[in-house]
Amino acid sequence: MLIVGTIFLMLPPTVFALYVLLNYFVAGKRSVCIVVLGDIGRSPRMQYHAMSFLKCGFDVDIVGYGGSEIQADLKNNKNVDVHQLQEVPGIFKGFPKLLLYVIKVIWQSVTLGISLLLLPKSGNILIQNPPCIPTFLVVWIVCWLRGSKMVVDWHNYGYTIMGLSLGYRNPLVRLAKWYEHFFGKFSSENVCVTKAMQKDLQDNWGIRATVMYDRPAHIFKETPLNDRHKLFLRLAEEYSVFRPKSGTVCQDETAFTVSNGNGDAFYLQSRPALVISSTSWTEDEDFGVLLAALEEYEKQVSTKTTDIPDIVCVITGKGPLKEFYQKKIESQQWSHVSFCLPWLSPEDYPLLLGSADLGICLHKSSSGLDLPMKVVDMFGCCLPVCAIDFNCLGELVKHEENGLIFNDSQGLNKSIHMLLQGFPNNSKKLDQFRKNLTGFQTTRWHDCWVKTVLPIFEDQSSQTADNKKSQ
Ligand SMILES: *[C@@H]1O[C@H](CO)[C@@H](O)[C@H](O)[C@H]1NC(C)=O
Ligand SMILES: *[C@@H]1O[C@H](CO)[C@@H](O)[C@H](O)[C@H]1NC(C)=O
Ligand SMILES: *[C@@H]1O[C@H](CO)[C@@H](O)[C@H](O)[C@H]1NC(C)=O
Ligand SMILES: *[C@@H]1O[C@H](CO)[C@@H](O)[C@H](O)[C@H]1NC(C)=O
Repeated sequence: MLIVGTIFLMLPPTVFALYVLLNYFVAGKRSVCIVVLGDIGRSPRMQYHAMSFLKCGFDVDIVGYGGSEIQADLKNNKNVDVHQLQEVPGIFKGFPKLLLYVIKVIWQSVTLGISLLLLPKSGNILIQNPPCIPTFLVVWIVCWLRGSKMVVDWHNYGYTIMGLSLGYRNPLVRLAKWYEHFFGKFSSENVCVTKAMQKDLQDNWGIRATVMYDRPAHIFKETPLNDRHKLFLRLAEEYSVFRPKSGTVCQDETAFTVSNGNGDAFYLQSRPALVISSTSWTEDEDFGVLLAALEEYEKQVSTKTTDIPDIVCVITGKGPLKEFYQKKIESQQWSHVSFCLPWLSPEDYPLLLGSADLGICLHKSSSGLDLPMKVVDMFGCCLPVCAIDFNCLGELVKHEENGLIFNDSQGLNKSIHMLLQGFPNNSKKLDQFRKNLTGFQTTRWHDCWVKTVLPIFEDQSSQTADNKKSQ
């Protein structure tokens, strides 16, 4: 009697324990865990990966830090679980830099390791690099313990970013480089962002990687004129550069557009060009180059010898040097070039890109091997760009085809002149570049992803995939 009773009582916990064990070592169906040791909301590429996995029927876990909002369609999907890691406790903040760094690495190793081990098993763990410290080692251990596949998505090299601020001779940077080299090779599969990086990984690191270019998300497209008008009206309430010449906020006119009584918007016959740039306001994205170029442009418009329009220059982004330049801009008395440094909601940013006439990119890659995501988004909006030159930029910006490449403020001055000449009616080059970009817009992330990245994750789960197809 006693024995039967005991067995009866032990049965539920045993079944439960077995279930947990099974979950622990056997991945259910197609599953992937995405690790971002940074703000998930500010990692668009990893969110695109997640969306594509979901579209292909994977269960997705995302492990990373909170902060910014993640994309709405990702947030509302029931097949994705987002697990937020705890930041380093504030009590350590006052510690000396090096000690704080060591504490941070230990803290991140422990929190990441525990989070990953507590999750049900994923067949694959996809890591964003950078940062690789401590992700590579921690994820490799977890993969080894549970028999998962480790895949690295190389956006850039972590040590080159460290090197920018600390210098490449710094022992910490050298250690980071060694670590990235050494543990990078432990991954089973690799994805990277450019052909230049693929070659570098192969030649210098012995790592074979598949190139998956960044592509613009669907929200990045040309904004219809009526929506541009509405956006300008909304922005005019806060920012004077969007207001009509009279300077007052009014319901049917902005600096660029006017609407008739029926709710249809039209461009004003002579309107300023809307030039947009987004910068992280750091030393390696020298905003001074743009400022100097526009100072020269301002002088040229004033002389009225050439047929070039006024410019409204909108610069988005936040960063350390923003305040410095904001003061500098405010102290200038220009009459043909005006600036606006707005804070835009995640919904308004693509709308504004889709309404602009010209994009400017001042981003220089730290490794020279990755491409600026903001240009990808601009191209998604059919927006031609002027971009500052660096080694692999040509994989994205084709000089004289979809934009112009410049080296310094004089080059930028010339490029802006060249593109805005005759604007808006006769800016032939700008219009041609715009036309050239329609092809770019039609190749979207998911289609490329299915061709290049999905096969990496497909083989081990092809059976379930086949079952799915036959259903
Ligand atoms: C642009 O063209 C329109 C007609 O297509 C004309 O009404 C307008 O005056 C022109 N604007 C300029 C600045 O030449
Ligand atoms: C892009 O535009 C330029 C005009 O500046 C033209 O010469 C070129 O053939 C176009 N390229 C493509 C691929 O359409
Ligand atoms: C920028 O500089 C590089 C090398 O210094 C040169 O090859 C290239 O032609 C320059 N580009 C422009 C647009 O002047
Ligand atoms: C700026 O570009 C215009 C048009 O190409 C040119 O006339 C002017 O001399 C340039 N200014 C400087 C400082 O290069």
